[in-house]
Amino acid sequence: DTPRVSVPALRARKGGEPIVCLTAYTTPVARLLDPHVDLLLVGDSLGMVVYGFDSTLPVTLDMMIAHGAAVVRGSRHACVVVDLPFGSYQESPQVAFRNAARVMAESGAQAVKVEGGLEMAETVAYLTTRGVPVMGHVGLLPQSVNALGGYKAVGRDPEAAERIRADARAIADAGAFSLVIEGTMESLARQITEDVAIPTIGIGASPACDGQVLVSDDMFGLFGEFQPKFVKRYAQLGTAIGEAAATYAAEVKARSFPGPEHCFGIKKA
Ligand code: KIV
Ligand code: NA
Repeated sequence: DTPRVSVPALRARKGGEPIVCLTAYTTPVARLLDPHVDLLLVGDSLGMVVYGFDSTLPVTLDMMIAHGAAVVRGSRHACVVVDLPFGSYQESPQVAFRNAARVMAESGAQAVKVEGGLEMAETVAYLTTRGVPVMGHVGLLPQSVNALGGYKAVGRDPEAAERIRADARAIADAGAFSLVIEGTMESLARQITEDVAIPTIGIGASPACDGQVLVSDDMFGLFGEFQPKFVKRYAQLGTAIGEAAATYAAEVKARSFPGPEHCFGIKKA
């Protein structure tokens, strides 16, 4: 068995072959994705796509640990990174470490991800110097949706772009091993990718990044509520599931399911 993709191996892919990432939240989906990706992100997007919350804010540390452990059990190749949820790390580096240590110890993941820029740099340094690899996340920050007033592209004026650029540098300098850039223009993503020595992973941030990530339920057509511009649907599993349920319902009503091949007979002596 080849070992999992490690944090240093990912870090070393800067400027090389693009890094392929997807979110996963469950063991069976992790099993399906694992052979094809370098990194499985257990994103707090699960609050929206799995639990039906209208933001990621209600997601708890226990939810992230349970889903992180499920994804670790379903994978053996990809590096597994778990999002620290809202409220579990913003208060202080010490609180962040205590909660990150629980995630690492109880899920078996190799790293955590935190949203934020300059204001999170001290925390990123605190974690990375104590054995917790950190992936950063700048640009559109879904955990700050209430402060931002919605989910829309960011950094589109020069001052905002400079702020995000400074955020990215601060997180890279603090020791993060890679950096998600979400929801911004190609020119800024390209500039950040040139500025920092760690791989950038884009979502709605152009092909100028060192890798890409998508929310898997979005790309599979499983989550229909809202479709951001940057999502490409690679499958229509929602439609397939709806059709399967409709056929099942019709067959149950017609008593054509279960058929003889699905029924137990008397045991032969
Ligand atoms: O929660 C998530 O899925 C994420 C990715 C979109 C980067 O943070
Ligand atoms: Na997230």
